[in-house]
Amino acid sequence: MDFKVADLSLADFGRKEIRLAEHEMPGLMAIRKEYAASQPLRGAKIMGSLHMTIQTAVLIETLVALGAEIRWVSCNIFSTQDHAAAAVVVGPNGTVENPQGVPVFAWKGETLEEYWWCTEQALTWPNGEAPNMILDDGGDATLLVHKGAEYEKAGAVPAATADDPEEWHVIIDLLTRTVGADKRWTKIAESIKGVTEETTTGVHRLYEMHKNGQLLFPAINVNDSVTKSKFDNKYGCRHSVIDGLNRATDVLIGGKVAVVCGYGDVGKGCADALRGQGARVIVTEIDPICALQAAMDGFQVTTLEDVVGIADIFVTTTGNFNIITAAHMARMKHQAIVSNIGHFDNEIDMAGLAKQPGIVKNNIKPQVDEWVFEDGHSILVLAEGRLMNLGCATGHPSFVMSNSFTNQVIAQIELFAKTSEYPIGVYTLPKHLDEKVARLHLDALGVKLTELTKEQAAYIGVHVEGPYKPEHYRY
Ligand code: NAI
Repeated sequence: MDFKVADLSLADFGRKEIRLAEHEMPGLMAIRKEYAASQPLRGAKIMGSLHMTIQTAVLIETLVALGAEIRWVSCNIFSTQDHAAAAVVVGPNGTVENPQGVPVFAWKGETLEEYWWCTEQALTWPNGEAPNMILDDGGDATLLVHKGAEYEKAGAVPAATADDPEEWHVIIDLLTRTVGADKRWTKIAESIKGVTEETTTGVHRLYEMHKNGQLLFPAINVNDSVTKSKFDNKYGCRHSVIDGLNRATDVLIGGKVAVVCGYGDVGKGCADALRGQGARVIVTEIDPICALQAAMDGFQVTTLEDVVGIADIFVTTTGNFNIITAAHMARMKHQAIVSNIGHFDNEIDMAGLAKQPGIVKNNIKPQVDEWVFEDGHSILVLAEGRLMNLGCATGHPSFVMSNSFTNQVIAQIELFAKTSEYPIGVYTLPKHLDEKVARLHLDALGVKLTELTKEQAAYIGVHVEGPYKPEHYRY
């Protein structure tokens, strides 16, 4: 088996944590039981690009239990938990000397070149075969396959320009090496039955590609299952934003002024958590609906320009770019903490920061840097501007990820087993499956549901067994 992880000897520790996580992931474990006999993913060759954590290990082993063959990478250079990666490679029945698990190509602290090399490796199936499914988080695997196929069709890879971000140069280098006469990317694109996408940012990319007529295979938008975005993005970040701040800086949050940029699902979770720690939280928004929600939730809503000089902690949650600029950072208080929890690192202008006159970067410890300005004041930047909950801490806890990943497995089964029902397009899972995912998590929390009577069901126009809400309902 080919693989590349940091240290296989961490597998035993990883396996212990996987065992604890399985208990906290009742949705995934129920799905394993439900499909153990029918093996709906037999024949599926799934390339996964999603943070290689303990929770993801339980997801991977669930896909294997349903019959799939897997190759895996992380979707971020800092998010791999090395003991999780090692345990997945060794597998539940293997040993360090004789690994029998799944090929993983991921370690904490990859360079950008290594990151894209890993993605290429996981898309390269042994014996000249090709993957037939992608499970993506942020869309990087999907992007590589689409760009490779596009350039093979055009017969050339365009050169990157000086204005392109550093990462694009790395991608172009990789494609220049691999786009070729063997049409490898075209073959992969043709063999993919579909992709299931985990996050808001990846979903944006998919809808954009579909709108432009560029999408080459169908996609299921897992993010917009209610049991994903209204739970993982909100309650997951409510947990892990504080974890990231504490592990990175251990600064007391109570009494500080914290600015949360964006009040979508992630922003709502972050603002709530920071308030829970006793911070005075200020929100910035561009959308009047979200701004009004923030105001009615009791937060001051204003522009970043107004408060950039008085805040102690900044968290960007927008999925947009250039939210905190170098000019903003130059005006911040001494030792203000600057962090991003959105998917990509361009919410904070790190390139602009590095170009400030006389600026000096002091590395305090991995994923924590102090940037000292010419006038002597400094700011602390977490995880080089990449998602801080996974860069500085361990991301979301198992229970909330069980909701997200149960949706992922169901979506993989849908696209793989019912391919003909999904022409090229971007779909969400039907509501009865969303409700099923929620239902699988109730017992563990001691939740007792009220059952509708037949008469009540008829009165509100639903079936006793659901779905209980119309498609347009917003929760
Ligand atoms: P969302 O679309 O619900 O929220 C983003 C909010 O930012 C919107 O309300 C939008 O109006 C606002 N916004 C956009 N531009 C802005 C600007 N210039 N200033 C202030 N506000 C602005 O998206 P969601 O689901 O909250 O996700 C946000 C990001 O977090 C995405 O990149 C997503 O992929 C990522 N994500 C990260 C997770 C993690 O564990 N780190 C977990 C889930 C999502």
